[in-house]
Amino acid sequence: MYYQYRLSVIATALLFGCMSCNPMGETVHKPGIEVNKSGPQWHLGAMVSAANPHAVDAATAILAKGGSAIDAVIAAHTVLGLVEPQSSGLGGGAFLLNYNNATDDLSFIDGRETAPALASIDMFMKDNEAMGFIEAWQSGIAVGTPGAVALYASAHQMGGRLPWPDLFETAIELASNGFLVSPRLAGYLPAMARRSRLAINPDTAAYFYPEGEALQEGDLLKNPAYAETLNRIASEGPSAFYTGDIAQAIVKAAKAEPNGGSISLTDLANYSTVNRPVICGPFRNLKICTTSPPSSGGAQIMIANLYDHLISDGSNDADRVAAFTDAQRLAYADRDHYFGDPDEVAIPLDALLSPAYLRHRATQRFAPQATPTPGDPATVIDDLAMVPQWARDTTEEMAGTTHLSIIDSDGNAVAMTATIEGAFGSQRWAKGFLLNNEMTDFAKAVPEDGTRLANAVAPNRRPRSSMSPTMVFDEEDNLRMVTGSPGGNSIPAYVAKTIIGVLDWGLSAQQAVDYPNIIARGEKVRVEIAQPEGKAIAEDLSSRGYKVQERAGENSGLHIIVVGTDSLDGAADKRREGKVSSIKPQTP
Ligand code: GLY
Repeated sequence: MYYQYRLSVIATALLFGCMSCNPMGETVHKPGIEVNKSGPQWHLGAMVSAANPHAVDAATAILAKGGSAIDAVIAAHTVLGLVEPQSSGLGGGAFLLNYNNATDDLSFIDGRETAPALASIDMFMKDNEAMGFIEAWQSGIAVGTPGAVALYASAHQMGGRLPWPDLFETAIELASNGFLVSPRLAGYLPAMARRSRLAINPDTAAYFYPEGEALQEGDLLKNPAYAETLNRIASEGPSAFYTGDIAQAIVKAAKAEPNGGSISLTDLANYSTVNRPVICGPFRNLKICTTSPPSSGGAQIMIANLYDHLISDGSNDADRVAAFTDAQRLAYADRDHYFGDPDEVAIPLDALLSPAYLRHRATQRFAPQATPTPGDPATVIDDLAMVPQWARDTTEEMAGTTHLSIIDSDGNAVAMTATIEGAFGSQRWAKGFLLNNEMTDFAKAVPEDGTRLANAVAPNRRPRSSMSPTMVFDEEDNLRMVTGSPGGNSIPAYVAKTIIGVLDWGLSAQQAVDYPNIIARGEKVRVEIAQPEGKAIAEDLSSRGYKVQERAGENSGLHIIVVGTDSLDGAADKRREGKVSSIKPQTP
């Protein structure tokens, strides 16, 4: 595959139209794409790709009942919170990108966790040093106000078709009657017992280590507390979660020692989702549309366009992989430097995504041994010196996250990435679910020299996220691709691989997902060598002088759908446990 994509480019060009036309148009921000639909009525059926078969089945059943993609994603995610509790759930947050095929509207619902009102810039500092990673990860300080349940309600209001209570039925039934513990969930537990407080905190220990022994693959696991919480949300709405005894249980768990946090009932009662702009940028004759900050979706537009500047007609396969690597090095340096909560910090997003800046930025391609540094959009904005504004940020994010891609029978689509941050979040438990540790996505250290970071902690602020649910559209605004992944800081690299893999390398959805992950943030380049192509890529990049770190496996969880002329092509990441399910189009 690695050495074959040039032929496939021709096939892709046929699928997507003139791939080399109009390489750089204007970048646009818009909450909704203009209606410009010349394509046929939707005739491709429905599809779901997500990280666990129970969740995919729940979504498919909802779609089969006439539910929308939004109905399906809510049903699937409530199941994921049960069967894949290490990755996401009611105690965390999510970004949802929604496409309405009838109106061509694209919407972004930000259900990111917020910092408590009593959070402070130095809350992770102890004795003038930032708290160690493991201590911070498991602390109550790390618990932000969860956004997932509010996001369900906002999404349902936006595009739900089935009654709200119906969306919780499958998860309630599975939680009440039990489900079989998956290999991945069971596989985490011995290591978590060694590295974390999961087997020590009384409630999590009782659930994941009954009688003191870790759950095993295939054990029947019931979660009546989760069933009860969902029952309450189903019958009373989101206020059942954000007020009353569920909210009290969240606060109590987050405040528990060691390192109790400051989240309060008021923080919970005040939580709301935010409808933010969708950002769309051109890529050849297509449009990449994704979530704006605090998401890192903008990096998708940057990587794709920088990649195009760094290749030429004469670029061979290996040159293209090197260009993909360097596009990431440039884009990550900018993302790390400028992105944060857009309500709190000025992010020069227009400039960073503008054709003029990206053209200029591509000329700054770093030598393979160099440590990438941020570019300065002042090159395209007069009288603005941007770089000195923020100190250097190297925040680490973990991979306790999941991604779902869904298209319904009317051609509506949802890409949702949801998280509780680290595996099993903060390992704190309330009413059948884990609480997030999302506050560690903020920069924990406070620079001693008084400089500040775009992603510093502040009261009520949302931490920067790498989550990047993304869709691609053609020039007539027809949907062409739905993509996204978990993976902490590696998310922009994982997702960009599928966009470039499908659109330039001519890979199928599954080939793009399977293709070795290449992550180039900072001075090192990680290359996944599980397949022979990965070894060849690592050797080629090493021979070019890059500081390559070979990795046996990567933690991507890419769940993508590519829209072809006559069919949908879906893929689930074999690195996790998911699957793809489809519903055939109805014959007229
Ligand atoms: N906690 C993972 C992310 O938000 O990117």
